Amino acid sequence: MIVSFVQTKGGTGKSTLSMNSAFSRNVSTRFSSIALVELDPQGTLQSWWKSRVEENRYSGNVSFHHISSTQKEVIQDGITSIAGHNELLILDIPGESTSRLHTKFACAFSDRVIVPMRTSTNDESAFKDNLLPVIKEIIKVTPEKKRTFQILPSFTNAQSNKDRVIEYFQDVLPDYVECLPVVYPSRSIYENFNRDGMNLIEYTESLKKNKRAHQQALKAVEDIEEIAAAIFNFTEK
Ligand SMILES: Nc1ncnc2c1ncn2[C@@H]1O[C@H](COP(=O)(O)OP(=O)(O)O)[C@@H](O)[C@H]1O
Ligand SMILES: [Mg+2]
Repeated sequence: MIVSFVQTKGGTGKSTLSMNSAFSRNVSTRFSSIALVELDPQGTLQSWWKSRVEENRYSGNVSFHHISSTQKEVIQDGITSIAGHNELLILDIPGESTSRLHTKFACAFSDRVIVPMRTSTNDESAFKDNLLPVIKEIIKVTPEKKRTFQILPSFTNAQSNKDRVIEYFQDVLPDYVECLPVVYPSRSIYENFNRDGMNLIEYTESLKKNKRAHQQALKAVEDIEEIAAAIFNFTEK
Protein backbone atom coordinates (compact mmCIF):
# COMPACT_ATOMS: atom_id res chain seq x y z
CA MET A 1 0.00 0.00 0.00
CA ILE A 2 1.24 3.49 -0.88
CA VAL A 3 0.20 6.66 0.97
CA SER A 4 1.48 10.07 -0.15
CA PHE A 5 1.46 13.47 1.48
CA VAL A 6 1.01 15.95 -1.35
CA GLN A 7 0.57 19.70 -1.52
CA THR A 8 2.09 21.91 -4.17
CA LYS A 9 2.68 24.58 -1.54
CA GLY A 10 5.68 24.23 0.77
CA GLY A 11 5.52 24.45 4.56
CA THR A 12 2.18 22.70 4.94
CA GLY A 13 3.41 19.90 7.20
CA LYS A 14 4.02 17.12 4.65
CA SER A 15 7.42 16.09 6.00
CA THR A 16 6.32 16.34 9.63
CA LEU A 17 3.21 14.27 8.94
CA SER A 18 5.12 11.66 6.91
CA MET A 19 7.79 11.02 9.51
CA ASN A 20 5.43 10.92 12.46
CA SER A 21 2.68 8.85 10.89
CA ALA A 22 5.32 6.25 9.94
CA PHE A 23 6.24 5.95 13.63
CA SER A 24 2.69 6.23 15.01
CA ARG A 25 1.51 3.26 17.07
CA ASN A 26 -1.52 2.87 14.84
CA VAL A 27 0.68 2.37 11.80
CA SER A 28 3.67 0.55 13.27
CA THR A 29 1.54 -2.08 14.98
CA ARG A 30 -0.61 -2.80 11.93
CA PHE A 31 1.97 -2.97 9.17
CA SER A 32 4.88 -5.37 9.39
CA SER A 33 7.28 -3.17 7.44
CA ILE A 34 7.02 0.54 6.74
CA ALA A 35 9.16 2.46 4.27
CA LEU A 36 9.38 6.19 4.74
CA VAL A 37 10.33 7.52 1.31
CA GLU A 38 11.45 11.07 0.68
CA LEU A 39 11.16 12.23 -2.92
CA ASP A 40 12.28 15.75 -2.13
CA PRO A 41 15.76 16.49 -3.53
CA GLN A 42 16.11 19.01 -0.66
CA GLY A 43 16.46 16.08 1.72
CA THR A 44 14.80 17.41 4.89
CA LEU A 45 14.04 13.89 6.06
CA GLN A 46 17.39 12.57 4.88
CA SER A 47 19.36 14.81 7.23
CA TRP A 48 16.93 14.04 10.05
CA TRP A 49 17.38 10.30 9.44
CA LYS A 50 21.15 10.74 9.36
CA SER A 51 20.95 12.20 12.89
CA ARG A 52 18.78 9.26 13.95
CA VAL A 53 21.45 6.87 12.79
CA GLU A 54 24.24 8.89 14.45
CA GLU A 55 22.28 8.92 17.71
CA ASN A 56 21.72 5.16 17.44
CA ARG A 57 17.95 5.51 17.65
CA TYR A 58 15.91 2.36 17.25
CA SER A 59 13.56 2.57 14.29
CA GLY A 60 11.90 -0.86 14.59
CA ASN A 61 10.01 -1.80 11.43
CA VAL A 62 10.46 1.65 9.82
CA SER A 63 13.11 2.08 7.13
CA PHE A 64 14.12 5.24 5.30
CA HIS A 65 14.73 5.76 1.58
CA HIS A 66 15.63 8.88 -0.35
CA ILE A 67 14.94 9.14 -4.07
CA SER A 68 16.37 12.44 -5.26
CA SER A 69 16.01 11.87 -9.00
CA THR A 70 13.72 14.02 -11.12
CA GLN A 71 13.42 11.35 -13.81
CA LYS A 72 10.09 9.59 -13.83
CA GLU A 73 11.55 6.18 -14.72
CA VAL A 74 14.10 6.33 -11.90
CA ILE A 75 11.41 7.32 -9.38
CA GLN A 76 9.09 4.59 -10.61
CA ASP A 77 11.78 1.89 -10.48
CA GLY A 78 12.83 3.02 -7.01
CA ILE A 79 9.27 2.89 -5.66
CA THR A 80 8.58 -0.49 -7.29
CA SER A 81 11.69 -1.93 -5.69
CA ILE A 82 10.87 -0.55 -2.21
CA ALA A 83 7.26 -1.76 -2.58
CA GLY A 84 8.59 -5.26 -3.17
CA HIS A 85 10.07 -5.31 0.35
CA ASN A 86 7.58 -3.30 2.39
CA GLU A 87 3.93 -3.62 3.32
CA LEU A 88 3.41 0.15 3.54
CA LEU A 89 5.14 3.04 1.78
CA ILE A 90 4.72 6.59 3.05
CA LEU A 91 5.85 9.13 0.47
CA ASP A 92 6.96 12.65 1.33
CA ILE A 93 6.40 14.64 -1.87
CA PRO A 94 8.11 17.99 -2.54
CA GLY A 95 6.18 21.19 -3.24
CA GLU A 96 5.58 22.79 -6.62
CA SER A 97 8.92 24.60 -6.76
CA THR A 98 10.68 21.35 -7.68
CA SER A 99 8.34 20.50 -10.60
CA ARG A 100 4.94 18.95 -10.84
CA LEU A 101 6.46 15.60 -11.78
CA HIS A 102 6.48 14.30 -8.20
CA THR A 103 2.94 15.48 -7.59
CA LYS A 104 1.68 13.77 -10.72
CA PHE A 105 3.59 10.60 -9.92
CA ALA A 106 2.25 10.46 -6.36
CA CYS A 107 -1.34 11.13 -7.45
CA ALA A 108 -1.19 8.39 -10.08
CA PHE A 109 0.59 5.69 -8.06
CA SER A 110 -0.73 6.06 -4.51
CA ASP A 111 -3.63 4.25 -2.88
CA ARG A 112 -4.22 7.32 -0.68
CA VAL A 113 -3.19 10.89 -1.36
CA ILE A 114 -3.38 13.10 1.71
CA VAL A 115 -3.41 16.85 1.07
CA PRO A 116 -2.69 18.98 4.13
CA MET A 117 -4.46 22.31 3.62
CA ARG A 118 -5.18 25.40 5.69
CA THR A 119 -8.48 27.23 5.84
CA SER A 120 -7.11 30.10 3.80
CA THR A 121 -8.07 31.49 0.42
CA ASN A 122 -4.39 31.32 -0.43
CA ASP A 123 -4.23 27.56 0.11
CA GLU A 124 -7.55 27.07 -1.63
CA SER A 125 -6.47 28.87 -4.79
CA ALA A 126 -3.12 27.05 -4.81
CA PHE A 127 -5.06 23.78 -4.56
CA LYS A 128 -7.52 24.73 -7.30
CA ASP A 129 -4.81 25.99 -9.66
CA ASN A 130 -2.19 23.29 -9.17
CA LEU A 131 -3.47 20.08 -7.65
CA LEU A 132 -7.07 19.92 -8.75
CA PRO A 133 -6.26 19.75 -12.49
CA VAL A 134 -3.94 16.77 -11.80
CA ILE A 135 -6.62 15.01 -9.72
CA LYS A 136 -9.32 15.71 -12.34
CA GLU A 137 -7.19 14.23 -15.08
CA ILE A 138 -6.57 11.04 -13.09
CA ILE A 139 -10.23 10.59 -12.17
CA LYS A 140 -11.25 11.10 -15.79
CA VAL A 141 -9.07 8.18 -16.84
CA THR A 142 -9.55 6.05 -13.69
CA PRO A 143 -12.92 6.86 -12.06
CA GLU A 144 -12.39 4.24 -9.33
CA LYS A 145 -9.58 6.43 -7.93
CA LYS A 146 -12.25 8.85 -6.72
CA ARG A 147 -11.81 8.06 -3.03
CA THR A 148 -8.03 8.32 -3.19
CA PHE A 149 -7.75 12.05 -2.60
CA GLN A 150 -8.34 13.33 0.90
CA ILE A 151 -7.89 16.77 2.38
CA LEU A 152 -6.45 17.07 5.86
CA PRO A 153 -7.41 20.42 7.44
CA SER A 154 -4.07 21.67 8.75
CA PHE A 155 -2.57 24.24 11.08
CA THR A 156 -5.99 24.65 12.61
CA ASN A 157 -6.27 26.55 15.85
CA ALA A 158 -6.07 23.95 18.64
CA GLN A 159 -9.05 25.66 20.28
CA SER A 160 -11.26 25.86 17.23
CA ASN A 161 -14.24 23.61 16.63
CA LYS A 162 -13.04 20.59 14.65
CA ASP A 163 -16.43 19.73 13.15
CA ARG A 164 -16.90 23.24 11.87
CA VAL A 165 -13.51 23.19 10.13
CA ILE A 166 -14.32 19.87 8.47
CA GLU A 167 -17.74 21.16 7.39
CA TYR A 168 -16.08 24.19 5.87
CA PHE A 169 -13.87 22.00 3.68
CA GLN A 170 -16.72 19.71 2.68
CA ASP A 171 -18.51 22.82 1.44
CA VAL A 172 -15.68 24.27 -0.62
CA LEU A 173 -14.37 20.99 -2.10
CA PRO A 174 -15.63 19.38 -5.30
CA ASP A 175 -17.50 16.12 -4.63
CA TYR A 176 -14.69 13.88 -5.89
CA VAL A 177 -12.32 15.07 -3.18
CA GLU A 178 -13.05 14.04 0.39
CA CYS A 179 -12.17 15.69 3.66
CA LEU A 180 -10.75 13.44 6.39
CA PRO A 181 -12.81 13.47 9.63
CA VAL A 182 -9.82 14.80 11.59
CA VAL A 183 -7.69 17.95 11.77
CA TYR A 184 -3.97 18.61 12.14
CA PRO A 185 -3.72 21.42 14.71
CA SER A 186 -0.97 23.99 14.93
CA ARG A 187 1.24 23.27 17.97
CA SER A 188 4.67 24.56 18.85
CA ILE A 189 5.76 21.03 19.71
CA TYR A 190 5.82 20.20 15.98
CA GLU A 191 8.52 22.80 15.47
CA ASN A 192 10.82 21.31 18.10
CA PHE A 193 10.46 17.58 18.36
CA ASN A 194 12.86 16.54 15.60
CA ARG A 195 16.17 17.56 17.18
CA ASP A 196 18.88 14.90 17.26
CA GLY A 197 16.84 12.75 14.91
CA MET A 198 14.00 12.23 17.36
CA ASN A 199 10.47 11.40 16.32
CA LEU A 200 7.47 12.85 18.15
CA ILE A 201 7.03 9.84 20.43
CA GLU A 202 10.71 9.85 21.48
CA TYR A 203 10.62 13.59 22.09
CA THR A 204 7.50 13.22 24.22
CA GLU A 205 9.28 10.54 26.30
CA SER A 206 12.21 12.92 26.81
CA LEU A 207 9.85 15.48 28.34
CA LYS A 208 8.53 13.18 31.06
CA LYS A 209 10.05 15.22 33.89
CA ASN A 210 8.39 18.44 32.70
CA LYS A 211 4.72 17.79 33.35
CA ARG A 212 3.28 20.71 31.38
CA ALA A 213 5.44 20.22 28.31
CA HIS A 214 4.85 16.48 28.47
CA GLN A 215 1.09 16.97 28.45
CA GLN A 216 1.32 19.30 25.45
CA ALA A 217 3.43 16.77 23.61
CA LEU A 218 0.96 13.97 24.40
CA LYS A 219 -1.74 16.00 22.65
CA ALA A 220 0.38 16.10 19.52
CA VAL A 221 0.98 12.34 19.73
CA GLU A 222 -2.79 11.94 19.97
CA ASP A 223 -3.30 14.17 16.85
CA ILE A 224 -1.02 11.94 14.84
CA GLU A 225 -2.67 8.73 16.05
CA GLU A 226 -6.09 10.10 15.08
CA ILE A 227 -4.82 11.22 11.69
CA ALA A 228 -3.22 7.83 11.04
CA ALA A 229 -6.42 6.03 12.07
CA ALA A 230 -8.47 8.23 9.74
CA ILE A 231 -6.13 7.77 6.78
CA PHE A 232 -6.25 3.99 7.06
CA ASN A 233 -9.85 3.82 8.18
CA PHE A 234 -8.97 2.04 11.41
CA THR A 235 -12.06 2.02 13.55
CA GLU A 236 -10.51 1.50 16.98
CA LYS A 237 -7.11 2.72 18.12
N1 LIG B 1 1.11 21.21 13.19
C1 LIG B 1 2.12 22.08 13.17
N2 LIG B 1 2.10 23.15 14.00
C2 LIG B 1 3.09 24.06 13.99
N3 LIG B 1 4.17 23.98 13.20
C3 LIG B 1 4.27 22.93 12.36
C4 LIG B 1 3.25 21.93 12.30
N4 LIG B 1 3.62 21.02 11.37
C5 LIG B 1 4.80 21.41 10.88
N5 LIG B 1 5.20 22.56 11.46
C6 LIG B 1 6.40 23.36 11.14
O1 LIG B 1 6.15 24.00 9.90
C7 LIG B 1 7.29 23.95 9.06
C8 LIG B 1 6.97 23.23 7.76
O2 LIG B 1 6.69 21.86 8.04
P1 LIG B 1 7.13 20.71 7.05
O3 LIG B 1 6.61 19.43 7.60
O4 LIG B 1 8.59 20.78 6.75
O5 LIG B 1 6.28 21.13 5.75
P2 LIG B 1 6.46 20.70 4.21
O6 LIG B 1 7.14 19.37 4.19
O7 LIG B 1 5.07 20.65 3.70
O8 LIG B 1 7.26 21.78 3.57
C9 LIG B 1 8.39 23.29 9.87
O9 LIG B 1 9.16 24.27 10.47
C10 LIG B 1 7.62 22.50 10.92
O10 LIG B 1 8.38 22.35 12.09
MG1 LIG C 1 8.91 18.80 3.16
